[in-house]
Amino acid sequence: MLIRRPTDILPSEITSGDAYLHRREWLKQAASMGLIAGLPVLAACDAQAQGSRLAGVKANPAYAPADERINKVEDFRNYCNFYEFGTDKTDPPVMAKALKTRPWTVAVEGEVLKPKTFDIDDLMKLAPLEERIYRFRCVEAWSMVVPWIGFPLSALINQVQPKGNAKFVEFVTLADKAQMPGLRSSVLDWPYVEGLRLDEAMHPLTLLTFGAFGEVLAPQNGAPLRITIPWKYGFKGGKSIVKIRFVEKEPRTAWVKAGPSEYGFYSNVNPTVDHPRWSQATERRLGEFSKRKTLMFNGYADQVASLYTGMDLKKFY
Ligand code: MTE
Repeated sequence: MLIRRPTDILPSEITSGDAYLHRREWLKQAASMGLIAGLPVLAACDAQAQGSRLAGVKANPAYAPADERINKVEDFRNYCNFYEFGTDKTDPPVMAKALKTRPWTVAVEGEVLKPKTFDIDDLMKLAPLEERIYRFRCVEAWSMVVPWIGFPLSALINQVQPKGNAKFVEFVTLADKAQMPGLRSSVLDWPYVEGLRLDEAMHPLTLLTFGAFGEVLAPQNGAPLRITIPWKYGFKGGKSIVKIRFVEKEPRTAWVKAGPSEYGFYSNVNPTVDHPRWSQATERRLGEFSKRKTLMFNGYADQVASLYTGMDLKKFY
């Protein structure tokens, strides 16, 4: 029988998915269970079968949104965008079930001094795993609050040491026709590619993500790793990444190629710049009936606005 020690329990589990998350209360609970600071971090398990809990995860409450409710895990797992497995929200949970996530390697290459191909289980041990509760905003004007598990992408970037001419980071995701029926459609130019400016990639909020809700990522949510950039629209977060490339020029991303008038490279959440098909002024939180106002940079302006000083965000949308 599996006995779970208090240090194995994350705040996302203490606060059930549909209970209100009051930050102060959450902090109190986490502190009383010794979850916050100074605890030794256990190694992540190697066997990462679907549904397995991630061990040794430390809560990092620094960025938890105040007075927000964590979404139900079902919202996260059953309402997905992962076009390699179909374009309906309910396709990926069914079609991605058999995605093979081991063995899995991630090639980190391009303009770096120390290129390296990581085995996913080694990559997961590169830095302590943290749980971070972030708002997640989709350009289609729905949103969620998700307890992600990962570590800052900067930990990986520091290890491979970008050269002076590396200005952008490109994320290339799996495109395997044998496993991904959606690749038969020409809705996007495969593989799904996303990118960030190097300073955005280095920002402490940018999370290399291996899990959510205490467990390894479900295939439909981008197992075995995706990227999470909470101040940008959800499509910036490529799922099932196989390659991370450091480049000089702004990457041509899948959505910019598909619709340059609709999708920009920056794609910062911005209630004052509408998408031609969806107003970005408001959003519907999954599980809620009425709409709420969308916050500039998805509520992370204090942390990230300085990245864009002097830029016209209507032009660089
Ligand atoms: N990554 C890949 N490889 N393929 C995709 O179709 N969809 C993006 C992003 N990452 C997508 C992807 C979009 S549009 C969104 S909103 C988020 O994943 C959705 O993440 P979720 O389904 O886990 O909520």
